[in-house]
Amino acid sequence: MEKNNFAIILAAGKGSRMKTVENKCMVRLLGKPMISYVKECLEPSLFDQVICVVSPTETEIQAVLPKEVRYVIQPQPLGTANAVLQCLSLLEEKQGYTLILPGDVPLISIDQIQNIVEEHLKNNNDLTIATAFCDHPQGYGRIQRDSCGNILRIIEEKEASKEERNIREINTGLFCVSNQKLVELLPLVKNENHTQEYYLTDLVDLLAMRKARIGHCVCPLENMVGINDLTALSQAEEFLRTRTIRKWMDYGVYFENPHTTVIGPDVELAIGTKIRSNTTILGTTKIGRNVLIGPNTEIEDSVIEDESIIRHSVIEHSLVGFGCRIGPFAHLRTGTVLKGENHIGNFVEIKNSTIGSKTKAGHLTYIGDTHCGAEVNFGCGAITVNYDGSKKHQTHIGDHVFIGCNSNVIAPIEIGDFGFIAAGSTVTENTDPYDFVISRPRPTVKKDYAGKYQNNENN
Ligand code: UD1
Ligand code: MG
Repeated sequence: MEKNNFAIILAAGKGSRMKTVENKCMVRLLGKPMISYVKECLEPSLFDQVICVVSPTETEIQAVLPKEVRYVIQPQPLGTANAVLQCLSLLEEKQGYTLILPGDVPLISIDQIQNIVEEHLKNNNDLTIATAFCDHPQGYGRIQRDSCGNILRIIEEKEASKEERNIREINTGLFCVSNQKLVELLPLVKNENHTQEYYLTDLVDLLAMRKARIGHCVCPLENMVGINDLTALSQAEEFLRTRTIRKWMDYGVYFENPHTTVIGPDVELAIGTKIRSNTTILGTTKIGRNVLIGPNTEIEDSVIEDESIIRHSVIEHSLVGFGCRIGPFAHLRTGTVLKGENHIGNFVEIKNSTIGSKTKAGHLTYIGDTHCGAEVNFGCGAITVNYDGSKKHQTHIGDHVFIGCNSNVIAPIEIGDFGFIAAGSTVTENTDPYDFVISRPRPTVKKDYAGKYQNNENN
């Protein structure tokens, strides 16, 4: 029998409770969109196709999810049942199962999803509902059971009586349902309720009336919270933040002040590294061994190799080689590659540049669109002038070059190996190896003349 198993992620809702401009499912937790967490928990062996239901104007989700995801448009956000309805034509073979997940449950894990599917298959269920127990069930659909414990229906909060609102077992929003039953019964869901939405949860009632096999799988609430507003977002983020830091502590990474530190879920750290206060490391950053980071540092999508020290700095999409000393107050922007043992100090900004090993820029330097060799010294205030007002240009600097303080190297330009640029020079022409360049007006010294410009009364 051909497999026909699907996962459907629902992401076409209005998200009005979140009050953010972007789609709710694109709101980030520790720098990563909620929907990416959900998608990553879908083991490819369990699903032949992952479908994501999006609104007609959605483009952001398609930019972050992997290519194999198929998109189905829900023309109007008429409710979760209406969202799934848009996918029915894809399930027409009627074999297999479909796991339906909301896009706002980012704390879900691979194991949980596996359990739900296993439970569904093991008991040959028509529907398996992931439920959880909750002391404060506000906002969730409540699970109603008969006296034998069979699930009868799910009552949405807005439809629930005072007594029903006291039920502590909630619907987490994850359903595993046989395609056959889904195709047969979903079109029968009506919108005769307070919000006039088509509730997916009404499917339960339809199945129960037909004596279908309805199973359940109780999941830990902490993995199943639905993020509908900014309060829930901040609580979930805090949960994830603490869990991630604890994992790295167990692994052998020291955190000076863990409550002020944020480590993204896809960051890799190594043994012997120390992370000081107020540090945020996000994206796909990879940090080597015995690295010292912080305090007050932000790093995103970068690689920091072993033995480096990064203090009070910002690093984005860059590579910092072995044994570098960065900061305080350095900014390495996208495309910076430091080959190793570099010192990049106070108020130095580098972007889209490769810097050879042991090259130093200790203070107040801008290096942009530059290919620089090894053991170069940038004096205080040296600048590679890469922008002429309309275009960016490249600078090439050889090995062992000395660039004096307050120099401007105007691109496009090439400075040969072992060159020497005298302090205060503006260099506009290429130089050969060992050339010395000086371009600055000679000073005029007038003996005993200074008094003319000073307050006579003080003289
Ligand atoms: C839903 C469940 C509720 C459950 C809770 C768990 C329904 C009717 N209610 O409520 O029982 O306890 O999740 O977190 O299913 N969406 C669409 N199209 C729409 C409406 C929503 O794609 O027309 C998407 C949303 O983008 C979201 C997901 O479906 O990702 C769930 O919608 P949401 O509005 O968050 O439902 P809840 O009120 O949380
Ligand atoms: Mg929700």
